[in-house]
Amino acid sequence: MADVIIRTRKSGPLVFELAAGVKLVDHEGNPYPLPTGKPLVALCRCGQSKNKPFCDGTHKECGFIAEETAPPRDSAG
Ligand code: FES
Repeated sequence: MADVIIRTRKSGPLVFELAAGVKLVDHEGNPYPLPTGKPLVALCRCGQSKNKPFCDGTHKECGFIAEETAPPRDSAG
C-alpha cells in the first residue's frame, strides 16, 4: 500500500487522498463509507461539522483557528 499522508489545513480540516486500502473506521471498527468521485477526504477537526467525522465547511463560520505546524524533525526525538 502506498504511503498515506494526512495534512492539516490551516484553520481547517485534516485531509488525505483516497488510495486503495485506506479505511476510516469508527471507535467500534465499523467502516465509514468514503466519498466517491472525489480524490480527497476532509476530516473535521473543529468539532462543529454536522457530518462528523467529515468536514462540512462549518470551520469557516465558527471562528476555528489552528495554525500550528509540526515541530522540526530533530526535536521529535
Ligand atoms: S474542520 Fe471543517 S467543519 Fe470542522
